[in-house]
Amino acid sequence: MLFSIIQSKSFRAAQMFLGVALTLSFAQTAAQTHPWMNTKLSPDERAAMVLKEMTIDEKITLLHGTGMAGLSPLSPEIVHSNGGAGYVPGIPRLGIPPIQMSDAAYGVRMSGENGRYSTALTSCVGAAASWDLDAGFEYGALIGRELRAQGYNMTLGGGVNLTREPRNGRTFEYMGEDPVLAGKMVASVIKGTQAQHVLGDIKHYALNDQESGRNALNVNIDTRAARESDLLAFEIGVTEGEPAGVMCSYNRVHGDYACENKWLLTDVLKKDWNFKNFVLTDWGGAHSSAKASAAGLDHEEPGWIFYGDTLKKEVEAGKVPQAEFDDHVRRILRAMFATGVFDNPPERSVVDVVGGLEVARKIEEQSAVLLKNDHGILPLDASKIHSIAVIGPHADVGMISGGGSAQVDPPGGNAIMPPGKGQTRWLEPVWFPTSPLKSIREKAPSAKVVFASGSDLNAAADVAKAADVAIVFAYQWESEDMDLPSLSLPEHQDEIIAKVAAANPRTIVVVETGTAVTMPWVDQVGGILEAWYAGSAGSDAVANLLFGEVNPSAKLPMTFPKSDADLPHPTIVKAPKRSLVEGGAEPWKQIAAGLPAFQVNYDEGVKVGYKWYDAEKKPVLFPFGYGLSYTTYSYSNLKVVAGKTPRVTFTVTNTGNRAGAEIAEVYAALPAAANEPPKRLVGWSKVKLNGGESKDVTVEVDAKYISIFNTDQNGWQLLPGEYTFMAGPSSQDLPLKETVSLK
Ligand code: BGC
Repeated sequence: MLFSIIQSKSFRAAQMFLGVALTLSFAQTAAQTHPWMNTKLSPDERAAMVLKEMTIDEKITLLHGTGMAGLSPLSPEIVHSNGGAGYVPGIPRLGIPPIQMSDAAYGVRMSGENGRYSTALTSCVGAAASWDLDAGFEYGALIGRELRAQGYNMTLGGGVNLTREPRNGRTFEYMGEDPVLAGKMVASVIKGTQAQHVLGDIKHYALNDQESGRNALNVNIDTRAARESDLLAFEIGVTEGEPAGVMCSYNRVHGDYACENKWLLTDVLKKDWNFKNFVLTDWGGAHSSAKASAAGLDHEEPGWIFYGDTLKKEVEAGKVPQAEFDDHVRRILRAMFATGVFDNPPERSVVDVVGGLEVARKIEEQSAVLLKNDHGILPLDASKIHSIAVIGPHADVGMISGGGSAQVDPPGGNAIMPPGKGQTRWLEPVWFPTSPLKSIREKAPSAKVVFASGSDLNAAADVAKAADVAIVFAYQWESEDMDLPSLSLPEHQDEIIAKVAAANPRTIVVVETGTAVTMPWVDQVGGILEAWYAGSAGSDAVANLLFGEVNPSAKLPMTFPKSDADLPHPTIVKAPKRSLVEGGAEPWKQIAAGLPAFQVNYDEGVKVGYKWYDAEKKPVLFPFGYGLSYTTYSYSNLKVVAGKTPRVTFTVTNTGNRAGAEIAEVYAALPAAANEPPKRLVGWSKVKLNGGESKDVTVEVDAKYISIFNTDQNGWQLLPGEYTFMAGPSSQDLPLKETVSLK
């Protein structure tokens, strides 16, 4: 009986009425007792009002996390965590919501262990390859929506360390080697996420360009070079994206750990860039309280080794000034108001799985780079092909994904394991169940499609020989907590490709990597597509590109060198001896205390990526900014109007008969007195063109992008002199140029 009343419509209507009434009256009371809930006030005003009401203990609560197994003790409060990497309890008395943080580099992490689902987008480096700010926004927005649906209100994504060391195991989490491209792309991703009322993040600040010895190493780099390279990517990301959080990195810079480095946190970030929100440590990246506080660290994660009782005592003893302490709290509150976290708390809901797959596919289609297409081997014409050999490790079941704290859990588990058995584990490769073999079969239903893994070289050669075309899927797995031994493909895959190509010259290689890859077989194959870590809908996106339903438009966000020997550092500098004491139950204590430093000298300075190869005149495999299309483009009519922000205009024509999108790139060579590498990217425009169509393109060049960083004046300086502006399809193909004098 009771059950039927509860189920009755009138009961539910009454329930809803009561609910609405309660919410309204709560909102009214909240506005009366919590005047900072007035949305007409600015985030700064609102933060100042809350701060005034807070006790020292409440303030301390906001300045640290509640622990993570293996990295710190756990607080009893952790039971209220949403299951992500970080949890900061709210303060109900003041209506301050908790902060529920989750890693979310290319999708929401830890969905599996929490019984949830999230979409894996293409890796961040793939997003950068789209050079598409709208795609970047969509990328961030999808992550924001899925975080909210899971009950989170902060992302820990936003990786933008430059590809200074392409063997860095986290290169897939970052946005390539150019500071302007990386900075603008990460800013778009941050904006997309924050538009969903989720606190955004940018990381790992700064110069965390390799994983080997990351908790011990000390980076030495010339200050001007740092400001013009790695820090410029952060400068653009921070000033344009206005993230809620900046995560300081594990490593040392110029002798001090990044999370207690006054130059990085206060002088550059908070003063020069006017960053208004908060700095949080990487997990276990704190090493002090008073020193870190004075340097500008606002929040410790995941625990409270330094920013709990220790900091409180130091404040009470006057060792940490009250104003400095309050500023940390104010910044966190301010970020929460600015992002709408107070006014729009996350609402749990079912993730839009189908919509997510659609977004993932579309972004991957804009991210995969066509590197080679001899004699128009691509796109494949399903009506003319009778047989296809699909070859490569696990190409029958899945595509590889990036590991570490970026890892997104695949539905059903790791595709190479029995269903349900494939939990994601640290430092174990995860294959997403997006099957190239299946997608290709769907595209060519009347062709005979045969699979060979490549474990037996002769069997692979045999199926290749018997087919009209062979498609090899090759991969290189990467993860946080490791660097790659080399840029060459592991597991004899170079051999597989060479053998297949020898058996059938109509061989196409699809590479799934998170970074540059060397290709000793480049001249033997007909086509190459760099698919990166392609995400949840990877195989469909790749098949759409291979069969020409989508015209490739992406361009490389990093140089592919010919060999490791051509890199600025032919071998990665590692800690001379193991820094951590072997064994010991709590290695985090040793890390917190500080590990013995070893030196990593970035003597190449500003010469990151193409700037290095240009300056050193080293030929490369594929240059930065390179990528083909199924149509062709021409460039004409360059005009440069000098001024504060020079305007570069030119015409791009689609000289083929297929519609496409061309990323038209603009570079500048600075006057000789600047003593800079031969050129730098200063802007671009992605132009959509139908076959035969022409469009005029204008790129306004930000004065900063053609300036040098003057360390004496601590500012950007445009040197008077002759500037050559160049436009074209890649960093090594710039058919248009004009020199103008700038004052
Ligand atoms: C990583 C961060 C990550 C954090 C929380 C650290 O090990 O370096 O990128 O956000 O863990 O999982």
